[in-house]
Amino acid sequence: MTAVEPDPGSATALRLHLADVLTMSGDLRTTPWRSAVETVPREVFIPGFFERVDGPRETMWRPVTPELVGAEERLELTYTDETWVTQLNQGITAFDTDVPIPGVPTSSSTLPGLVVRMLEELQVEDGNRVLEIGTGTGYSTGLLSARLGSELVTSVEVDRRVADHAVRSLSAAGYAPVLVADDGLLGHQPGAPYDRVIATCAVRHIPSAWLAQSRPGGLILTTMLGWLGASSGLVRLEVIGNGSAEGTFLGGTDSFMPARPHAAPKLDDSVYSWIEEVGTTDRRTVVGPEILDPWDGWTSLFIAQLAIPDAQLLTYGIDDGPVLDHIVDTSQQSVAIPYRTPDESAAVRRAGPVDLWKPVERAITEWRAAGSPALDQFRISVSPDSQTVWFGDPAGPLSWKLRTSA
Ligand SMILES: C[S@@+](CC[C@H](N)C(=O)[O-])C[C@H]1O[C@@H](n2cnc3c(N)ncnc32)[C@H](O)[C@@H]1O
Repeated sequence: MTAVEPDPGSATALRLHLADVLTMSGDLRTTPWRSAVETVPREVFIPGFFERVDGPRETMWRPVTPELVGAEERLELTYTDETWVTQLNQGITAFDTDVPIPGVPTSSSTLPGLVVRMLEELQVEDGNRVLEIGTGTGYSTGLLSARLGSELVTSVEVDRRVADHAVRSLSAAGYAPVLVADDGLLGHQPGAPYDRVIATCAVRHIPSAWLAQSRPGGLILTTMLGWLGASSGLVRLEVIGNGSAEGTFLGGTDSFMPARPHAAPKLDDSVYSWIEEVGTTDRRTVVGPEILDPWDGWTSLFIAQLAIPDAQLLTYGIDDGPVLDHIVDTSQQSVAIPYRTPDESAAVRRAGPVDLWKPVERAITEWRAAGSPALDQFRISVSPDSQTVWFGDPAGPLSWKLRTSA
C-alpha cells in the first residue's frame, strides 16, 4: 500500500484532542505541560511501531507503518493514549517485517498519559536542568524541551540506534537537547548538577551517579522493579546531598521495562530440566500462591521480591499439569512452587538447599500484621552505604535493604 501523507491539520486536531483526553483523565494538570502536549508532534517520533495481538500460543506484534496500514490509520493510532512498542529483541523495528512476529519489547513510546503524569510529578520549575534516562523515541524528551528549552535537557539512551533515531526525530521537531548514547545509570556528569532526574526505564536501586549529579533539594522520579516482576509504581526522592536521599512511593501500577543492567539475568533452558530432576518436598504454608498475583496493586508481590531479591518468577506447567508460578534462585540452586491443594489449603513444593518461601512467609506475615499497607505507604531511604525500603520504621520488621550491586 502506498502511504498518502495525511492533512497536517488533522495531526494538530488529534494533538488537541489528546490534550483534552489527558486533561479529563487527570494526567495533564498544568498549562505549561498542556502547551507542550499541544506542540510536540508524536508522529515524528514514532513513524512505525508494533501493536500487540494475542496469538494462539504467544503474544505477537503487528507492524504498524504508513505503508502497511495507511497514513491515516497510523496517525490516528499515534494519538491514542497507548504505549507503542518501537523495538523488539534489541534491534527489530516495524519496518523490518510485513507480518506479526513474536518478540520481547526493548524500546517503546510510553503512553502519553503516563509520560505527562510523570512530568507533572517531576514538579519542574522554569530554569530547571533535567536529566532524563531512557530517551526511547525521544517523545518525552521533546515534551521536556518544549517546556524548559532544549538547552536545559539532557537525555541518555543505552541503545545507540535508538538514540540516533531520537536525535533525528527531535531535530525534525525543532529540538536539540543534549542526547547521549550510553548507560543512563551512570548519568551524564558534564551536564551536572541537575535539578531533576527522571527515568522511563525501571531500576532495582537508585544509581549512585543520579544522586551525585543532583543538586541538594533536587528530585529524582523513577519506577523501581525487581526480579519477580513487581513494579513500585512511581517513586519520588528528594536529594539531601553526599549520596543521600529520602523518597516516597507515589502509588499506582505504572511499570517500565527494566534498565538494561538491572534486568534479571536470562535463565537458560537447563533450569527446567534441573527443576524436574532434583527431589522436591512439600509442606503446608500460611502464605498461598495468590500473593504472587498483582491483585492488590503489586504490594504483596513487591514485598516477596524485597524478601528474596535474587529470585526470579517462571510460570509454566509440566506436561499436562497446571500452570504454576516457580520461584527460582539460581545463585542458591533452589526453587519454591507455592500452590493450593485440592482441599484449597496453601502448600509449597521446594527443592534445593534453601527454602525460598520462608523469607516470603515472614515478610508477608509481618505485612499482614501491620494491616496490609499499600505500597504508597512505604518509603525509601538512601545513604552512601545502603538503600532501604520501609514501612513504619526504617529499622523495623517491614524494612528491607536493596541489592545495590547490580
Ligand atoms: C519505555 S522506553 C522510553 C520511553 C520514552 N522516554 C518515551 O517518551 O516514551 C525505555 C527506554 O529505556 C532505554 N534504556 C534501558 N536501559 C537503559 C539504560 N541503562 N540507560 C539508558 N536508557 C536505557 C531503552 O533502550 C528504551 O529505549
